[in-house]
Parts: sequence; structure tokens; C-alpha cells
Amino acid sequence: MGESNKVLNAVERLQGLPVTSEAELLERIEAMPFGEQGRSWAARAARVESTGNVGWGLFPATPIIERGEGSLLYDVDGKEYIDLLSGFSVSGLGNNFPPVVEAIRAQAGKLTHFFDFPTPERIRLAERLGELSGIAGPTRVLFGTTGSDAVESAVKAARHYTGKPYVLVAKGDYHGATHGTIELTSRKGMNAAFYPGGTGGNVGFFGFPHTYRANLAESCSFGMEALDDLDRSLRGTFSPWADGSGNLVAAILAEPFQSSSGYYVPPREYLAELRRICDEHGILLIIDEVQTGLGRSGRLWGYEHSGIRPDIIAVSKTLGGGLPLSAVVAPAEILSSWQATAHINTQAGNAVACAAAHVVLDTITAPGFLDGVNQRGERFKAGLDAIAAKHPSLGYIDHAGIYLGLEFVLDPVRKTPAPNLVYDIRLAGLAEGLLLDHGGYYGNRIPLIPALNIPFELIDVVLEKLERLIGEAERKHLGA
Ligand SMILES: Cc1ncc(COP(=O)(O)O)c(C=O)c1O
Repeated sequence: MGESNKVLNAVERLQGLPVTSEAELLERIEAMPFGEQGRSWAARAARVESTGNVGWGLFPATPIIERGEGSLLYDVDGKEYIDLLSGFSVSGLGNNFPPVVEAIRAQAGKLTHFFDFPTPERIRLAERLGELSGIAGPTRVLFGTTGSDAVESAVKAARHYTGKPYVLVAKGDYHGATHGTIELTSRKGMNAAFYPGGTGGNVGFFGFPHTYRANLAESCSFGMEALDDLDRSLRGTFSPWADGSGNLVAAILAEPFQSSSGYYVPPREYLAELRRICDEHGILLIIDEVQTGLGRSGRLWGYEHSGIRPDIIAVSKTLGGGLPLSAVVAPAEILSSWQATAHINTQAGNAVACAAAHVVLDTITAPGFLDGVNQRGERFKAGLDAIAAKHPSLGYIDHAGIYLGLEFVLDPVRKTPAPNLVYDIRLAGLAEGLLLDHGGYYGNRIPLIPALNIPFELIDVVLEKLERLIGEAERKHLGA
């Protein structure tokens, strides 16, 4: 098998693609380091749940988790795992964060939900989110349930307000997987098969700048020059959304850092340049803070690292403290530009989820909390730097707050991606009780997504386990 086929094969295995049959899933389950209960539950899941969920993609077969406590999770056999997924930031304050659980109990005894009407919890939350958003002038908030739903609503509002059809997004961005967001997401196996989605194909893509591979031939990430084409396209050169006399673009939609693609942190000038382009061409800038928002980057919002102000933000995940909740925050004139009932979501802004969100905001905005996030991030970074000094496969570490993306390569000079090595680290990690995410344009990244309040002692345990796992994988793949 050629090297490129091997890489493709590993990436497909990492993504669990394609899932062909129940028999194949059962075979995969048998090969997993699960106990008897775990295998039995996973087999039941394979028989009744859609295989499109993340459990069959992140690992060859889904672990079945039954209980959580802070940064620890326990599967149905009672095996303990350190949670470095945090539900892709949904459980940003850890699992069953006691003050959140208490607020949920109290609110559930009072009112669980009331249609899509404002409730006291929801109104107070809208007030707080407006104040915290950093968006200039009076704001309005539109509640929802998931990140995709918030992005869809933000795009819908921008298209309605401007009367323009196009949305421009960075290649590699992930903005959701619903029919309305899927065409805004570029990810193998997710976009092409379902295109076009919500905007009917009125989507344009631009390059996302990331400097690690900027100077390599055949690289799929670039330095800031990745944005040159975007600028040119808006001046009316070869694009369906601008002809020199004006443009058809409602919004540029951007992740501050590219999360689902593998935790890539772009140069700080990235969002500043998007802001400049939006201002010059009269385009709204929607910032997707679904993953970076609420503290993960060491600041309340990821966009703060670039010193800009967005026009609209989409927030979710950590906001609900583990319950489904999302919000769009935008200037009053945008979210008041449609008539009553123009946008209804009967599950939006659930009262219990809003009560949980107040505790989340209390916690994250408490004095010293973000300092704690940054200190935890520094502890990880120092440990990872020490590992990288001994282990050449750890080629690059993206880092902001407790947002950490680890890029693995077969050799540090040519930066040859090492997806098979990553696959082995993650699988061995699972056996050792480490739940590790995967990503990377080449399938060669491990994003670390701990809870924002992970205990320092646990960080040291993670680092020690990671070093051992990396060493073992290097012995196999680099002959080190
Ligand atoms: C940046 C970003 N936007 C949107 C979404 C979609 O959120 P959800 O899965 O809740 O629909 C995600 C999910 O990972 C995300 O990371």
C-alpha cells in the first residue's frame, strides 16, 4: 500500500468511515478495550441508533459512559476515564458541576419550560448575554438549543436584515451539521454528500491562515496571504458574489479558532483582517463562539484575542452547563427587523437550561476564574513543551488559555503528517483511561479539551500518561 493510501486508510479509520454493516460494527466492538457490559451496550447501540453519531467516528466503537464527576467519567463496567473531550466543550465546567446540578434541581421544581415565551430566567439571561457580548449599542438575544441552531439563526437574521443571499466562510470551519449549516461546514464526509443546504448553495469559501505549514508545498493551510483571494473576490474579480459594482454578501461567518478541524489557532491578525474587509464592503461579521466562547481561550470570547468587535455572535455548548441551550446576540435593529412569530423554536431557551446558564456565567465571570483557566493552560503547555523536546513527533502545539491543539508529524523538518501514530496514541489512551479527541486537516492532531476547572493534579497525570503513550507510538512508527 502506498504511503498516501495508508494515510487515507488511517484517516478513514479515525473518522469511522464508511460504516457498512452491523456485522462490521460488532467486529469493531469486539476489538475494543471495553469490559463485558461496555461491549454488550455498544452492540445494542449498534442495533438501534443511527451510526452517524460521533461515538462511531471518534473511536472505532463507542464507549458507553454511565456516570460523571468533574473531569472524570465512568463507563458501564465502572472503568474510570479522564475526560479530555468535555462533550466538545458542552461540559465546559466538568460533568455534573455541583452548583449547576443544584440550580437545575431548584428550577425543575418551579417551571421546566414554557413554549418559546420569555420567562424570568430567560429575560435575565438575555440581559446578561447582551452586556457580556462586547457588541456595541443595544442588543437583542435569540435563544435556541444547539450550536447549529444558533449559527442557522444568525445567518438567517443576517440574510433577512441585509436582503443579501451570500455567506462567506473559511475552509475547514465547522459551523454545524444540520441541513441549514452543513454547507457552511467543510469537513470530509459531512459537506459534499449533503450540499447544497440552507442557503441553497450561496456560500463562498476563503482560506484559513495557520502558520505551521504556511511555507510547505501542497499544504492545506497558509499564512495571512490565505485571505488575499477573499479581498480580491470582493473587489469584483472572478466571484459570483461581487462584480465590482457591489456585492451580494450578507455576512462573513468565522470561527475565531478552528476547533472541529483540529484546534488550530490562527494569527491574531486573522479576525482583524476579516473585520477590516467587512467594514470596507458593508458586510456583517458573525463570530461563531460556540466552541471558543465562555472561557476556553483564556478570555471570555475567542474574538477578544484579536481586539475586534463582532456584529453578531453565536453561543452554545458551555452555556447550558450540560443542557441544550444556545443564543444569538446581535444589535437590536437586526433581531427586531422581522415580525412577531417570524422565527419560532418551541424548545428554545428552556427554563431549566437558562437556570443552569446563570450558574455558568456566575462561575466564569467570577474574579480570578479566567486566571485559573490560563494557569491550567500554562501548566499543560509547559508539560507539552517538555514532551516535545524529547519526542520529535509532537511537531506543533496550538495554545490559548486551555485551548490546546497537538500536531503530530513523522519528521519535524518535512512535517509529514502522522495520522497512524495519532490513531495508536488515542486507542492506547482509551485502554489507559484517557478520552482523547482527534482532528487535523491530515488526521494527525489531538485536541485536548479538558474542563476549564480541571484539577491541577489531574493535568500532571494526563501529561505523564501522554508522554508514555507518545513514546510507545514513536517506537512503533519512528523506530525511536
Ligand atoms: C464552532 C462550532 N460551531 C457550531 C457547532 C455546532 O454545534 P452543535 O453540535 O451543538 O449543533 C460546533 C460543534 O462542535 C462548533 O464547534
